[in-house]
Amino acid sequence: MPPRKIIIDTDPGQDDAVAILLALASPEELEVLAITTVAGNVPLALTSRNARVVCELAGRTDIPVHEGATQPLKRALVTAEHVHGKTGLDGAELPDPELAVAAQPAVEAIVHHIRREPPGSVTLCPLGPLTNIALALQHAPDIAERLAGIVLMGGAYFEVGNITPAAEFNIYVDPEAAEIVLKSGVPVTILPLDATHQALITKERLDAIAAIGTPVTEAVAGWMDFYERFDLEKYGSAGGPLHDPCVIAYLLRPDLFEGRHINVEIETGSDLTRGMTVADWWRVTDRAPNATFIGTVEANGFFALLTERLARL
Ligand code: BDR
Ligand code: CA
Repeated sequence: MPPRKIIIDTDPGQDDAVAILLALASPEELEVLAITTVAGNVPLALTSRNARVVCELAGRTDIPVHEGATQPLKRALVTAEHVHGKTGLDGAELPDPELAVAAQPAVEAIVHHIRREPPGSVTLCPLGPLTNIALALQHAPDIAERLAGIVLMGGAYFEVGNITPAAEFNIYVDPEAAEIVLKSGVPVTILPLDATHQALITKERLDAIAAIGTPVTEAVAGWMDFYERFDLEKYGSAGGPLHDPCVIAYLLRPDLFEGRHINVEIETGSDLTRGMTVADWWRVTDRAPNATFIGTVEANGFFALLTERLARL
């Protein structure tokens, strides 16, 4: 089988960075056509910088990094330096990138790749707010039926919220964009907090990655040390959750995940519950299913995969 063609839309973020590395370490299964950046964890200038830092760390300066939206569709940007640090990628000392941003803006690049590749061959992998994806679907509605699917990290049902009591960060930041994506008719798979809070990087798992002893795994270990302090304090869990790598792991090993094909709607009206993913997990409405909502990940298998792949870089 030829590798699956993907575009990673991202706001790095330490967990985004690990997701990018996992994809770049898996060329037999995944061909990364482009990385597109969006404002989210930190403002766009930093997410664009960080995406290029990660490409250089992986020795993949051939991957074009396109800059996208600086702001959500209708809201003021909310960022998450309290989780990711001032740079968005605190925890490892890495040089500023030499790799330049690609000339084509992100939304144009997304449309261009989807139109150029055979129908049904491109999968979008959003790891941040869905602003770029919504803009692409609005500007070029024809791409919806050409996409193989969208596999995204965002939302929560049983875990409810991490940025407010009701909402997960990526959906909270741009709920109108999330609504456009979920109403687009594209096959959508959602990796919500319900699953990603099971992918905890415990000390033992982090030690196994650090023991590989390459520049890549040293950086990952530094990022994880920094990043996990937030969730450790907040949830008292055994390690920080590797949210975004779950998207890439799902593409590589869907057998590690379980979910339900259900209806998912986004709250855009209420301030109190803005960005809540109202997931009909128990199928108590007649609303048509529009997403596969993942509920579990087999964490040991996930970390075995991640560790084995990072060792390849
Ligand atoms: C999501 O928000 C960001 O902070 C992470 O990178 C992840 O994409 C988790 O809620
Ligand atoms: Ca992210």
